[in-house]
Amino acid sequence: MKLCFIGTGYVGLVSGACFADLGNDVVCVDKDLNKIENLKKGISPIYEPGLEELVKKNYRNGRLKFSTNLKDSVAISNIIFICVGTPTKKKSNATDLSQVYSVAKKIRSYITSKFKIIITKSTVPVTTGDEIEKILSKNKSKKLFSVVSNPEFLREGEAIRDFIYPDRIVIGTSDVKANKILKNLYSPLISKGAKYINTTRRASELIKYASNAFLATKITFINEIANLCEKTNINIEDISIGIGLDKRIGSRFLRPGPGYGGSCFPKDTKSIVKTADKFKINLSLVKSVIKSNQKRSLLLINKVNEIFRGKIKNKNICFLGVTFKANTDDMRESSSLVMIPSLVKKGAKINYYDPTGEKKNFKKIKNVTFSKDIKTALHKSDLVIIHTEWNDFKSINFKSLIKKKHFIIYDLRNIYSPLKMKKSKIKYFGIGR
Ligand SMILES: NC(=O)c1ccc[n+]([C@@H]2O[C@H](COP(=O)([O-])OP(=O)(O)OC[C@H]3O[C@@H](n4cnc5c(N)ncnc54)[C@H](O)[C@@H]3O)[C@@H](O)[C@H]2O)c1
Repeated sequence: MKLCFIGTGYVGLVSGACFADLGNDVVCVDKDLNKIENLKKGISPIYEPGLEELVKKNYRNGRLKFSTNLKDSVAISNIIFICVGTPTKKKSNATDLSQVYSVAKKIRSYITSKFKIIITKSTVPVTTGDEIEKILSKNKSKKLFSVVSNPEFLREGEAIRDFIYPDRIVIGTSDVKANKILKNLYSPLISKGAKYINTTRRASELIKYASNAFLATKITFINEIANLCEKTNINIEDISIGIGLDKRIGSRFLRPGPGYGGSCFPKDTKSIVKTADKFKINLSLVKSVIKSNQKRSLLLINKVNEIFRGKIKNKNICFLGVTFKANTDDMRESSSLVMIPSLVKKGAKINYYDPTGEKKNFKKIKNVTFSKDIKTALHKSDLVIIHTEWNDFKSINFKSLIKKKHFIIYDLRNIYSPLKMKKSKIKYFGIGR
């Protein structure tokens, strides 16, 4: 099939490359010329394991193309996926749908005589599909297109695996013809065990938000229980195992940490609350999840303050990892963006290392230095904060790398064993244990 992905970011690029690999003719479009030119040279704009190889392979064999020309790309395609950003509006918690609607208007002017399926893969609030249909219906016969919702559930860092082996594929449409075409498009994944669900378009839009709100709630729940464990001398890992073995609860997303971040959970939880408000429904649970998560970074900063007994000034603090999670270079809504400037304000000197390199977010902050390797980053540390769970940080010999005799480790991912640390006479703090 001939597919067009509009927006060549995480979702558009990963889905486009994977669909090309499944034998489809794909064109990935972006308005960012630099991104498109780099992709043509085989350079991926994002760090995602396995993606660059997949892009190169399919670009070489001609099934994957890159373009800035939306008109021609829409014209040659049967199925068009809208994968542009849907950020939170600057002055409210509502979703900024300007990129989606601007693309919809352009598509309208490029639809000619051939039937096309227009899919929102971007995460969009309930009723957005209805609005897109209205936009396209202006001057165009409804027989020429079908607007479908097909939300994406991939996780950054595991995006390719998630695409090939999804738990479910959700297709929101009441159009029998469109559903048949899409079931056929996804048949290679269905035959590998993915569940295919056909719902109404609005239900599909809400499934995405409800999923993310639920996962954010699970993370926040275990973080709050971890706070209680710290006060009662209980190991949170016992709790996670003890409750996770209950099949009604499940063991995933029960690991405490610095709070959820990234490009999805923070914005999607705000968005679902805003949508519910619009329909006069109070999502009080999700509202308190958002508040609790926002407070989490401050709680961790207070803990650092406690560790130093209020004397943070001139302390050398090393951050291992600054991205919101491992295996991605994504800094969006990472807790490090709150923690680092706040610790600097209190007088700390920050040295950080991240396997995906230096971050522009910290370049202008005085007393924040990027180190090119773990050894240099650790060298002068009074305190090491293990912020992101990269494999690179899982077997460090701290004693041989840190010059100071007395140093402290604050492990926000519970990578290390408190017992082993005690035996090595290293002052160590984890989360909820
Ligand atoms: N990142 C994730 O893990 C993830 C997972 C599931 C769903 N989503 C959702 O998918 C959507 C896209 O997210 P993302 O992380 O891929 O975003 P992104 O910011 O990485 O990419 C969006 C791309 O769209 C391009 N774009 C914007 N307007 C355009 C236009 N008019 N024409 C062509 N290109 C245009 C931008 O230049 C950018 O490259 C969002 O709604 C997001 O919530 C993201």
